[in-house]
This record gives sequence, C-alpha cells and structure tokens, in this order.
Amino acid sequence: MARTALVTGGIGGIGTAICQRLAKVGYNLVANHHPSESEAAERWKQERMAEGLAIATIAADVSSFEESVRMVGEITDGQGPIDVLVNCAGITRDKSFKKMELDQWQAVIQVNLDSVFNVTRPVWEGMLERGFGRVINISSVNGQRGQFGQANYSAAKAGMHGFTMALAQEGAAKGVTVNTVSPGYVETAMTLAMDEAVRNSIVSGIPMGRMARPEEIAAAVAFLASDESSYITGANLPVNGGLFIH
Ligand code: CAA
Repeated sequence: MARTALVTGGIGGIGTAICQRLAKVGYNLVANHHPSESEAAERWKQERMAEGLAIATIAADVSSFEESVRMVGEITDGQGPIDVLVNCAGITRDKSFKKMELDQWQAVIQVNLDSVFNVTRPVWEGMLERGFGRVINISSVNGQRGQFGQANYSAAKAGMHGFTMALAQEGAAKGVTVNTVSPGYVETAMTLAMDEAVRNSIVSGIPMGRMARPEEIAAAVAFLASDESSYITGANLPVNGGLFIH
C-alpha cells in the first residue's frame, strides 16, 4: 500500500516541489495550507491535476495545536495513518533586532517552531506503534550560521534541529527516523520578497553563484523519506550551494 505523506506549508515554494516529487514516486500526498489560502490551494490542486498528480489539500493553521490535532485526525480518518511528515511551513518577519517587535518574534517562533511540536505530536505515537516513520524538518542555513535581520527566524530554525536531534533518539529503536534538511537560499516567493540589492549581495556570496531550485531541496527530502535512508537519523543535511560548510 502506498505510504501517506503530509507536507505542512505544502503549497509554498519548497512545499510544492516536495509534494510533486513525493507524489511522482507514489506516495499518497496531503498538502497542508493556511486557512487564509483556500482559494490559492484550490488553484494549486487543479495545477497539480493538470500535471497528472492527485494531491489532497487540507487547511489548518499549524501554529495552533488544536488545529493541528484536528488536521491529523481528519487525514488519519480519511486516508489512513501518516507515514511521512515534512514540517515545511515557515514565514519570515525580517528586521534588525533593535527594530524587532514582539509580534514579529512571536509570529516566527509560533509558525516555524511551535508548529513542529503541534503537528509531530499527534502523528508520533502512531509511527512508533507501526514501527515506521519519517519526520523531516525543513530548517535553514540561517539556523546554522545566523543572519543579520533574522534573530527570530534563526532562533526558530536552530530550534528545529535541536528538536530533530532529541526526537531522533526517541524514535531510533522503533524504525522512526527524524532528520533536518537545511536549505540555503532557494528561488521562492520568500527570497523574492527581499530587497533586490540585499538579494544580489547574498547570491554573490554563494560559492555556486546561484540560488537553489526548489526541486534540489525536494530531492534531499525524497531521499530521507525513502527506505534507502533507513540508518540516517538525527542528521542535518545542508543543501546550500556551499554557502555554509562546517
Ligand atoms: N551585516 C551587517 N550590517 C548589515 C547587514 C549585514 N548583513 N545588512 C544590513 N546591514 C546594515 C545596513 O548597512 C544598515 O547600516 P546603517 O544603519 O549604518 O546604514 C543597517 O544594517 C540597516 O539596519 P536597519 O535597522 O535599517 O535594518 P532593517 O531593520 O530595516 O532590516 C533587513 C534590514 C530587512 C534585515 C535587511 O538587511 C535584509 O533583508 N537582510 C537580509 C535578511 C535575509 O537574509 N533574509 C532571508 C530571507 S529568505 C529566508 O529566510 C529563507 C532562508 O531560509 C534562507
């Protein structure tokens, strides 16, 4: 039977590429989106249909635990248990720290980090009981090295990998792996939102001289979701064009 995969933030730039890639190799895919994006999600679903990919969409604000529990319950009832969870929902609220407001801190922590607890918690025990699971957290190079203007985002993204390392130890003996993928700068709406001069200066510092294509992140996720990665857990896989090597 096909495995079921849930991708949070599934209709975004990286999320879309992950959904396409996993659907193409036969997973039963569910793409989560924020409730305010329902119209966009419907269009997105039609676009995937036109590509020959039947992907379910589900609205839920993953910064809410109650909403996340409801979402996981609906997927489990409708499509069966979730075998692969990709925590990909994320936002930016970039500001130098001297100008950062509490709401900009909280929004990023709640959406990027609290969501990882909110969605993983209700799928976790089922994975342990079934003896198989893959949790893949989409972090960022900026969680590894920090970034001017991103104290909130870098804190949340570094926190995701702390979560990965701890949870990996709880799943290891049960066939459940937990890993982080840390993309560098990727061609998506998120990086396009940056000031052009700032973006150009960042790209000029990337050894490969270009941003990543979302498909290049999806390839890493597909590998970590597969049976081939069965002995890899607690890892942080950078996909950053050489931007940060350590
Ligand atoms: N290092 C040192 N100084 C810097 C700097 C840097 N990297 N970037 C800006 N500065 C300086 C400026 O030169 C300016 O100096 P002066 O005041 O002396 O003129 C000052 O900082 C600007 O500070 P402000 O308080 O005016 O900054 P701001 O609050 O308006 O914010 C910013 C500026 C929005 C953070 C802007 O610098 C920026 O967009 N930076 C890039 C942030 C970034 O990389 N975001 C990634 C988004 S994509 C993503 O997050 C995906 C992913 O995972 C990679």
